Amino acid sequence: MKRTHHCNELRPDHAGQTVTLTGWVHSRRDLGGVLFIDLRDREGRTQTVFDPQDLPKAVFETATHLHAESVIEIIGKVRVRPAGTNNDKIQTGQMEVLVKEMVVLNHAEVLPFPVDDPEVASKVNEELRLQYRYLDLRRPEMARNLRVRSKVATATRVFMDEQGFLEVETPTLFKSTPEGAREFLVPNRREPGTFYALPQSPQQFKQILMCGGIERYFQLARCYRDEDLRADRQPEFTQVDIEMSFIEREDIYALIEGLLKRVWKTALNLDIPTPFKRISFEEALNRYGIDKPDTRFGMELVDFTEDFRASTFKVFSGAIASGGVVKAMNVKGLACATQGQIETMTEYAKSFGARGLAYIKVENGDWKSPIVKFFSEAEKTALKTKLAIEEGDLILFAADQWLNACEILGKIRLYCADVIKTQGKLVIDPKQFNFLWVIEFPLLGFDRELNRWYSSHHPFTAPVTEDIPLLKADPKKVRGQHYDIVVNGVELGGGSIRIHQPAVQKTIFEELLAIPPDETQLRFGYMLEAFKYGAPPHGGIALGFDRLIAILCNTPSIRDVIAFPKTAKGVCLMTDSPSSVTARQLKDLHIEVKAAPKKEAPTPGAPVA
Ligand code: AMO
Ligand code: AMP
Repeated sequence: MKRTHHCNELRPDHAGQTVTLTGWVHSRRDLGGVLFIDLRDREGRTQTVFDPQDLPKAVFETATHLHAESVIEIIGKVRVRPAGTNNDKIQTGQMEVLVKEMVVLNHAEVLPFPVDDPEVASKVNEELRLQYRYLDLRRPEMARNLRVRSKVATATRVFMDEQGFLEVETPTLFKSTPEGAREFLVPNRREPGTFYALPQSPQQFKQILMCGGIERYFQLARCYRDEDLRADRQPEFTQVDIEMSFIEREDIYALIEGLLKRVWKTALNLDIPTPFKRISFEEALNRYGIDKPDTRFGMELVDFTEDFRASTFKVFSGAIASGGVVKAMNVKGLACATQGQIETMTEYAKSFGARGLAYIKVENGDWKSPIVKFFSEAEKTALKTKLAIEEGDLILFAADQWLNACEILGKIRLYCADVIKTQGKLVIDPKQFNFLWVIEFPLLGFDRELNRWYSSHHPFTAPVTEDIPLLKADPKKVRGQHYDIVVNGVELGGGSIRIHQPAVQKTIFEELLAIPPDETQLRFGYMLEAFKYGAPPHGGIALGFDRLIAILCNTPSIRDVIAFPKTAKGVCLMTDSPSSVTARQLKDLHIEVKAAPKKEAPTPGAPVA
């Protein structure tokens, strides 16, 4: 028998109708001989009433012993609940169904964890949730996240189609181009010792699509990166990947602003203002100490290099004398930090290279600090004025080379924001979304260990036109035509205008990145060749789709918006992958494993249990 309604559908005008509902036994209450079962399906919940007066004894008995999450079908009569028994928390809360017949479609055993109580469920260990992901997905929060994901994917496709983009699939068996993150390799059975690589992104294919005259491409693309995992990183993830021909940076900004406007309207019914603010990489570092600033709160970094150049406090004047800077930050309301907390913060700063973390606590009208005694009146006045120091403030300093000083205070700024958030001194509206374009990144960074330049974004990014003459003379000054889109401190996406002239691309590969010509040919020869036969000027961007959905669902972990994510160790706890394979499979692939696998693979054909 088919259901006539879903479990979120019944309203007062259905009263008197006979309906068939199917779903899971969400909860069961026995009230004075009458049994109430909340029946749940994907859409919601409906209260059903099992009254022994109205039912065959056997059916009532069966219902009494049903475990939570058993799957049943009921036929019954809809009625309005008696006065005073409404449940305002659910949309069918005015109604109930008096059961006349019930069929048990499947009994459930006792569950490893409850799914009916959000309070309890949210405290369940994540590993257990991942092991029994199908139970976890039944929780309304998870179901809502996947629904948002699906709606946003559809809205994205519709929007991109309206803008004239073609959705093109690109291969996931690609070629190894070791650049950026480590790759996942797939052995090739046909030729011993050769491998495919899973793509880190469709970057090269999408540029080739521009050479193929597609002009406007997009794809919800699966990408693979074998990197250290965190809450915002998975080994396989999805990008909204975009590339366009005959455009400039402004076209990408306008396109993405339009897309995100549509997405926010679809998912949250919010109208986000556009255009988004823009900030240069240098300004972002100077003010927030990070290239993906969270601008929902202040605590900006302030420069004191000139004020302390001649200071008697050698930690500061010494750092300046060796080409560094002094930066400080005012954490409002954190003067109450204990010595232990300051030490923890200092150790944290040291863990990423700080030499110390000088501080001043402003308490009872006093500046409590081991270093203030070294400061002149002029230095103190400069601090007071530029940091607007008041009672209750905690001032923190970093004296180091510019980038280090900025990054140290940038990390401490986020750390302190978390602390004062938990103390209730910083309240952030969950509906506030601060979008920001971060622009004018340096094209190249310098790796001191390897003594060579590397691409800040990727080697296909075009330099800012007026900086091209500096490419050989002063590479660190060259800005790239690269942009990142940031929201509330999360890097949502990034892209660039690309190099489309083979000669410039070759210079970047061989002269700046110092890739030997034969290796350039081996790895990128086909791209350089494609550029020879009429490559249009082009550029693009990729948005992290999982991060986008996590922001919309207001969850800190992208695992909560991916149906079957992996743990921080890259393991799928439900299927227990990665797993060992049989000797026969290895032989076919010409692979010899040196370390013994932890677990034996089952022999094909053997019983699974
Ligand atoms: P990029 O490497 O900056 O650029 O990636 C674009 C966006 O993808 C998301 N992202 C991730 N999400 C989840 N897990 C990961 N491991 C992960 N790594 C990246 C981020 C990031 O901003 N081809 C270029 C884009 C271009 O130039 O057009 C690229 O992949 O949100
Ligand atoms: P010291 O003279 O090394 O004992 O340092 C005095 C204070 O300055 C301590 O609070 C240190 O944590 C701090 N300090 C030391 N080096 C730095 C630095 N490079 N930047 C900021 N603070 C520092």
